[in-house]
Amino acid sequence: MNIGIIGSGQIGSCLASKFVKLGHSVSMTNSRGPASLKQLAGEIGAEAATVEEVVKNKKVIIVSIPQKNVADLPKDLFKDLPDDVIVIDTGNYYPALRDGIIPALEQSGIDSLWVQEQLGIPVIKVFNSIFATSLKEPGRPKGEKDRIALAVSGDDIKAREIVFDLVDELGYDSFDIGTIAQSWKQQPGGSIFCRDINLDELKKRVDAMGSEWSEMRDKIVGQHHADEALMATDFPAWLKNLK
Ligand SMILES: NC(=O)c1ccc[n+]([C@@H]2O[C@H](COP(=O)([O-])OP(=O)(O)OC[C@H]3O[C@@H](n4cnc5c(N)ncnc54)[C@H](OP(=O)(O)O)[C@@H]3O)[C@@H](O)[C@H]2O)c1
Repeated sequence: MNIGIIGSGQIGSCLASKFVKLGHSVSMTNSRGPASLKQLAGEIGAEAATVEEVVKNKKVIIVSIPQKNVADLPKDLFKDLPDDVIVIDTGNYYPALRDGIIPALEQSGIDSLWVQEQLGIPVIKVFNSIFATSLKEPGRPKGEKDRIALAVSGDDIKAREIVFDLVDELGYDSFDIGTIAQSWKQQPGGSIFCRDINLDELKKRVDAMGSEWSEMRDKIVGQHHADEALMATDFPAWLKNLK
């Protein structure tokens, strides 16, 4: 499969490396242009490309950049994409630690709803709820008890199913969260965020959230704000507190 990755940081480069090892053809980009990426891409076995090149002739495009930088991408980047191209969003919103307050995002509070508005195209949200350090570890075979499960959401069922297969190839189970409007369940502050839990546990926790963002928003956003404050001062303590 031809895969383009916008963002070559912790998540983007890890996914690039894993997809190349699985036999996919990967091109990747960053904010500084292909010359700055040539060495890393070469080591991975991917192609360093411009942001315009990275979206051309791809089956899957992964956007893996800080939330605040999504608005900097060229406005018509996805304008001429064929309908069957899948755009994946791995992003999370960190207003205090990294992104600053984005008022338009905070209206709904659903990160990927804002991302798809910015990009002008529907997205599938996945790989946002696993730490880069966990993603760098090898995946596990299907059926293994402690295989990590990843939440996947997006409006297009067919696109979600293709992503389930990719997630499986990488060595994870998928859990179908549903539409992008439900993707708040996999956002920071929620009980499945970066927990490295298996499918049964993930399902139990998602079921416990119910389906109403209006009922859960204060709790999840409040937890995220508290987490950001602790991450800023004592990241190991925050990690230790994760249950
Ligand atoms: N790190 C994690 O554990 C983790 C886990 C799950 C989800 N996420 C989320 O996934 C996203 C990426 O995280 P990360 O940790 O991989 O970030 P990162 O290590 O900071 O890397 C960000 C990458 O985005 C590139 N970039 C920024 N603006 C760009 C633009 N306008 N055009 C093209 N590339 C651009 C940067 O380019 P340069 O190299 O040129 O600066 C860099 O390669 C974030 O939203 C993050 O919250 C992170």
